[in-house]
Amino acid sequence: MGILHDKVALVTGAGNGIGYATVERFLREGAKVVALDRVIDQSLQDPQLRWIQGDVTKDEDLARAVELAKQFGGMDICVANAGVGQIEEFVAGSRASWMRVIDVNLIGVMMTLQAAARAMVEFGKGGRLLATASIAGLRGEAHAPSTAYAASKGAVMALMRALSVELGEYGITANAVAPGQIDTEMNASDLEVMSARLGRKASDVRADFLKNAVPLRRMGIPAEVAGLFTYLASSEASFVTGTTFRIDGGELAI
Ligand SMILES: NC(=O)c1ccc[n+]([C@@H]2O[C@H](COP(=O)([O-])OP(=O)(O)OC[C@H]3O[C@@H](n4cnc5c(N)ncnc54)[C@H](O)[C@@H]3O)[C@@H](O)[C@H]2O)c1
Repeated sequence: MGILHDKVALVTGAGNGIGYATVERFLREGAKVVALDRVIDQSLQDPQLRWIQGDVTKDEDLARAVELAKQFGGMDICVANAGVGQIEEFVAGSRASWMRVIDVNLIGVMMTLQAAARAMVEFGKGGRLLATASIAGLRGEAHAPSTAYAASKGAVMALMRALSVELGEYGITANAVAPGQIDTEMNASDLEVMSARLGRKASDVRADFLKNAVPLRRMGIPAEVAGLFTYLASSEASFVTGTTFRIDGGELAI
């Protein structure tokens, strides 16, 4: 029996990368999963899985997701993972470009977690609120100008800390996960932008970066982040709340 046996989970940004790996792992651990994404991947099918094509900036899509979770019998775990990247110099940014990132990465996360938390309070069985932040929210990134992204991810970590205090009395824990370089489409497309700016091959920029800036000298894979989410979602993490877990191959240890 898996460590999430019979738990009901909502995962956003589930169609790709970290979210997709998290859905796969949660299912293997026995959870029932509602998986939401703008672009859904129908190739993953399971009697314990419901896909929702939806957007975390649309409240009605989040309401549909929570309704499906309730049909599964509860709301035990929510992983607010949907996010968008943005590489842009601060002086070139604008209200519109920043709002695009903040709307998905911060307000979308807040609305997702609020919808889930309301259901958790209603069911009265506690719960696990989780969100994907980034090490970009913990330090400036010399290799990638991304102030709005960094601000959104820093805010997500503050959000989870504040939520742990506010919702602790309901037995709800709240934690953030801050990945470093994880091999996903988002990371690859950011690398393409940076390499083009530097006039260098993406593979060379990647190799130099991993050699100089990541002690483990490799990228992480989505399944490794899914493993951390699984631990935090499980009863093993019952006394863990209000904190951020880096998963970065040691990048911030330097
Ligand atoms: N890959 C990395 O190196 C890395 C590092 C730090 C943090 N992160 C964070 O991890 C999370 C997952 O990213 P990933 O690397 O797996 O990227 P990804 O591009 O592979 O997956 C992101 C998914 O989110 C979905 N999404 C985006 N906006 C959405 C919206 N408004 N509503 C619903 N779904 C939406 C996309 O369709 C996509 O399927 C993001 O929050 C990202 O900021 C990634």
